[in-house]
Amino acid sequence: MLNIILLGPPGAGKGTQAARLQANRGMIQLSTGDMLREAVAAGTPVGLKAKAIMERGELVSDAIVSALIGERLDASAGKGAIFDGFPRTGHQAEALEILLAQRGRKLDYVIELAVDEEALVTRITGRFTCAKCGAGYHDTFRPTKVEGVCDVCGSTEFKRRPDDNEQTVRTRMEEYRAKTAPILPYYERKGLVHRVDGMAGVDEVGAAIDAILDGGA
Ligand code: AP5
Repeated sequence: MLNIILLGPPGAGKGTQAARLQANRGMIQLSTGDMLREAVAAGTPVGLKAKAIMERGELVSDAIVSALIGERLDASAGKGAIFDGFPRTGHQAEALEILLAQRGRKLDYVIELAVDEEALVTRITGRFTCAKCGAGYHDTFRPTKVEGVCDVCGSTEFKRRPDDNEQTVRTRMEEYRAKTAPILPYYERKGLVHRVDGMAGVDEVGAAIDAILDGGA
């Protein structure tokens, strides 16, 4: 039962690869971004606090996201976990270690998606998802097979994230550089970090991750 972190700046492909691992390996994708967006949509107290912070591209408090992860970890008992967008600060990295240890689990891999930040702006501003089933697409890199129709469920309704505009993306990248990239040395000292070229195609990135998880890289 593997527990892995996918680490990389906004648009690096964490969500894309986490969804793939969930589908292919029966692991559970734990995305704090998705959890927060659900809370915003549902208008919960957490969502009300998080909404404006996310629209600015800044980080939500460590206490809120760590609590969300703790709840979802309990719900994913018995399955491997893919942490997507968590941890994002040193405090969150420490919190994750404790949350896992309390459940008799440990971290196996930290997979860093190495990318070119300028290309990411194009990736993010072209991103959209199916409004019904959540399947992810991109205007250029991953269009639907039939224009305007979801490949997975056939819906014709799609949505774009409010924080996927260039100005907010730049803030999100600054937050990544200032607060998230500095946690890499913490995991390097533990010998857990593996780097993957996140600029390769979706399938190639997936194959590189599979090779790591299967012990071949
Ligand atoms: P979150 O939802 O985590 O956003 P993010 O980290 O900015 O990451 P993204 O979802 O934008 O990118 P991704 O790496 O998943 O890329 P994707 O696979 O979609 O967080 C949003 C906000 O919530 C934060 O700003 C913060 O406010 C808050 N938050 C969340 N977690 C938090 C935490 N732990 N602490 C505090 N605050 C938190 O790919 C992007 C696009 O590129 C897609 O269109 C995809 O199809 C395409 N693509 C993917 N891979 C490739 C490839 N290899 N080649 C070509 N195109 C590709």
